[in-house]
Amino acid sequence: MKVLLTNIKELLQIRDISESKISGNRLKELPTIENAWLLIEGDSISNFGNMNEQVPSLVDETIDCQGKIVLPSWCDSHTHLVYAGNREQEFVDRINGLTYQEIASKGGGILNSAKLLRDTPEEELYRQSEARLKEVISLGTGAVEIKSGYGLTMESELKMLRVAKRLAANYPATIKTTFLGAHAVPENFKDNKDAYLEQICNEMIPKIAEENLADYVDIFCEEGYFTVEDTHRLLKAAKPYGLVPKIHVNQFNAIGGVQAGVDHNALSVDHLEILTDEDIDALKGSETMPVALPACSYFLSIPYTPGRRIIDAALPLALATDYNPGSSPTGNMNFVVAAACIKMKLTPEEAINAATLNGAYAMGLSESHGSVTRGKKANLIITKNIPSYGYLPYAFGSNLIDTVFINGKPWKHE
Ligand code: NIG
Ligand code: FE
Repeated sequence: MKVLLTNIKELLQIRDISESKISGNRLKELPTIENAWLLIEGDSISNFGNMNEQVPSLVDETIDCQGKIVLPSWCDSHTHLVYAGNREQEFVDRINGLTYQEIASKGGGILNSAKLLRDTPEEELYRQSEARLKEVISLGTGAVEIKSGYGLTMESELKMLRVAKRLAANYPATIKTTFLGAHAVPENFKDNKDAYLEQICNEMIPKIAEENLADYVDIFCEEGYFTVEDTHRLLKAAKPYGLVPKIHVNQFNAIGGVQAGVDHNALSVDHLEILTDEDIDALKGSETMPVALPACSYFLSIPYTPGRRIIDAALPLALATDYNPGSSPTGNMNFVVAAACIKMKLTPEEAINAATLNGAYAMGLSESHGSVTRGKKANLIITKNIPSYGYLPYAFGSNLIDTVFINGKPWKHE
């Protein structure tokens, strides 16, 4: 099946296959073609060009994109979208003055979600998570990473990862999964964190690897959760099983998690709301992608990741939603792109690069996703009629998406 998009007002993010991530000053460049066409063959982008030259004629379907912009679908490299229920009450508690940390220290927070998840049958967990996935695809996300971490027991962690795998099998969006058993210390191990880590390293990781349920491993390296030493221990144990690290660091405190991630060749280090000069230096010369999660900063009223400092230090940067019930109950990448522009002072070009190609890199997908490149997946957003791509973050509260293509097919949200 050949589908031709014609008269595209502007086709964004044209890249050569060899570009796997964009860093520093180069993030300001967003290569585009005005008045373009794009040919989809099967599930891939087969060719594109200017309307004045070599427009293919033998096609099965033509879609006129007059007035519309076409860009690669969003690559959301950090979510916890498999979860049970919600934490609306904690949201109200925070409005009334409690902090996220105070709620967590009273047994709320991650442990609250873990209890809810353990009491939720797998089928129901699937149903709730499926609704979130459908919503984010409609909002233009074509590739998404999903973490476990609300199970905190072998049985419940496996349940979460099975649900994520089932979503991957049943939906066209590309899904990568991450084992986050070290998200919090469960109640029954509260005075014996080491024993819980031992269980993670010696029992959960081997089982998860055996069942091929995860691509990556994660840990919440933070005061009151897991230390840098714990992080080294976990990442060392995960390595023989091929689980590459993508870790939570520097959300509330800079305790050395960035360096630990870099030491273990982490694919990404995520959050970074609190960032020291040493952390920036640690990232220089590494292959690790720093990932900012501005919807979490917005929702918790905590500092925004200093994206400008990161980019101005010639580093790359990716943007993701952190979709989860406690700190970012949204999977809307359009909002994340807008928040990065409005609150982190990224330009629209920088934010779009960070939410597409760099997001793909942060989940090991930059060879197939994240740019308009011949041979890559035809995962595309066709916007409504808009004056320019800068209008996407500018009109931050509007849904400006007309059609989402995933694997060469228009996505129809029922
Ligand atoms: O990325 N910080 C750790 N984990 C999640 C939030 C977990 C929760 O509150 O449920 C995050 O923000
Ligand atoms: Fe997270």
